[in-house]
Amino acid sequence: MGLFARIPRRVTVVEVGPRDGLQNEPGVVPTADKVRFIELLSDAGFQVIEATSFVSPRAVPQLADAEEVLRSVRRRPQVRYPVLVPNLRGLERALRAGAKEIAVFTAATETFNLKNIKMTIDRSLEVIGEVVREGRAAGLWVRGYISVCFGCPYEGRVSPGKVREVVNRLLELGVDEVSVGDTIGVATPAQVEETVGLLLKEVPAERLALHFHDTRGTALVNVLTGLLMGISIFDSSAGGLGGCPFAPGASGNLATEDLLYMLNGMGTETGVDLDRVVAATDFILGVLKRPPASRYYQSCRGVSPR
Ligand code: COA
Ligand code: ZN
Repeated sequence: MGLFARIPRRVTVVEVGPRDGLQNEPGVVPTADKVRFIELLSDAGFQVIEATSFVSPRAVPQLADAEEVLRSVRRRPQVRYPVLVPNLRGLERALRAGAKEIAVFTAATETFNLKNIKMTIDRSLEVIGEVVREGRAAGLWVRGYISVCFGCPYEGRVSPGKVREVVNRLLELGVDEVSVGDTIGVATPAQVEETVGLLLKEVPAERLALHFHDTRGTALVNVLTGLLMGISIFDSSAGGLGGCPFAPGASGNLATEDLLYMLNGMGTETGVDLDRVVAATDFILGVLKRPPASRYYQSCRGVSPR
């Protein structure tokens, strides 16, 4: 049997550019451009597009227009548009704007969580418990994010046991899917194998997503490691936009184009049209007026690497 014979034949790519990608951009992107970006991504065939964030506008001014964005997007029936929600206040806002899917978030280390949302992990899980209870009662699908699962800018390397504990607690609270994040892009394949291997002893692969940033160039090999272990949900952002305002030195997400290029080449289906993702990236880079991090994008647009 070939080395790659057992990787999933079908993968869900969760496009996080409009949220994880834009939240770190210094210049405020006009609401209409955010809406257009999301609609271009919808045209590309994603099943899941994270649309915006109902956090405190003081914490993330870029996404202060969350209501307007979510209300304005022409939503396609086959696409899910989760929005980030930090607390009950965010849930109310999201529900009023018509959200059908939400994403709650915590971290694998105390220091990161305190900097990001001013809560200990325990406190954030209490808040998430309330949000999930009310969200599910309202019929919402819920994703849970865990930041800094492989390394933390404040606490260094993170143990797989800690990640397992937070994953289990989120699942006990009723989240449908957990996205395990390498927020600062430090993971390498052996570490991914160790952490994912531990998780898969207790959690079915269908409930786990992997979220890599490409800060040190290891995002794609980490995806490949996840694929070989049977993971079939991966987060990425068009053009490789992104970074976390609360994680010093974090660079962009794994670029969706680069992920799709690899998956396409390996015969794994995603339902997403790579050329249309490039078109969405063309659009948003024109708004942001900056060069792309995506290597595939650079190659097909003749842009020289940064
Ligand atoms: N939507 C809008 N405003 C909100 C809000 C929400 N979901 N939650 C809190 N606020 C407002 C409060 O009304 C208050 O406003 P005021 O200062 O004008 O009175 C202010 O934010 C602070 O509220 P408080 O409850 O004291 O929260 P906090 O200061 O402890 O911050 C969070 C906690 C979670 C709300 C905030 O840190 C946050 O939104 N963080 C998000 C960070 C993020 O998005 N990171 C990137 C994703 S990983
Ligand atoms: Zn991220």
